[in-house]
Amino acid sequence: MSAPEPIVIAIDGPSASGKSTNARALAQALGFIFVSTGAMYRGFAWFCLKQGIDLASTRAIGSALKRWKAELVLDHGEVHLEPKGQRRTKDELEASETASAASRVSAVPVVRKYMKEIQRECIRFGSLIMEGRDIGTNVFPASEFKFYLDATDEERNRRRNLGKPVEPKPEEKSAAADDLKARDKRDSQRAAAPLMMGLGALRIDTTGQTPAETTALILAEVAKRQAALAQSRRKAA
Ligand code: DC
Repeated sequence: MSAPEPIVIAIDGPSASGKSTNARALAQALGFIFVSTGAMYRGFAWFCLKQGIDLASTRAIGSALKRWKAELVLDHGEVHLEPKGQRRTKDELEASETASAASRVSAVPVVRKYMKEIQRECIRFGSLIMEGRDIGTNVFPASEFKFYLDATDEERNRRRNLGKPVEPKPEEKSAAADDLKARDKRDSQRAAAPLMMGLGALRIDTTGQTPAETTALILAEVAKRQAALAQSRRKAA
């Protein structure tokens, strides 16, 4: 008997819609590999910031990409795109400056092309839970398991402030909300693979849901789709 074909569960949606939390929980529940494609864009954006690249210049970003050497690494059930010989901290990658730079470099077509190829390569590690903005539309458009998570702006801003060691001041909250809005706008209005719902994706509004509720909903839908697929394959055989 041959081994089952690896599958990809695509989780897309705007910032702070619950993608990472749910994707990690799903990976754990199903024994699949977790891939954050946002982390890949952040990694390259961090490099551009360190190199002082003009983020308004598509050409400068393209030539930085040619100098960026990175490889896929599987570590504790997660695939990362690790740059060779560069040390960056989790805080640096998660900083809002890096996120905003990631949103800018990710609009450049050559960067998207490079990332798409490398993200498709991840399948060699096994079945994946891959989260991002264009997984169901562009990276793995043929996936039968697509989810689009969303939440109200208010809820997404609230989540971004959770986990901060000190309660942000009102002006900091307002600046962070503006930042989130600008990023969403850029990610959904760019010409190259903008954020949108993939064909056949299930949209889930996670506002007011606990992560466990959302994860359970996704798991149930995956099981339902798997059963439907198995049935249609049996019929076709
Ligand atoms: O998921 P994240 O917030 O870490 O992503 C950071 C930025 O990277 C996001 O604002 C847009 C970009 N991105 C993208 O364009 N396509 C993806 N598949 C993932 C992220």
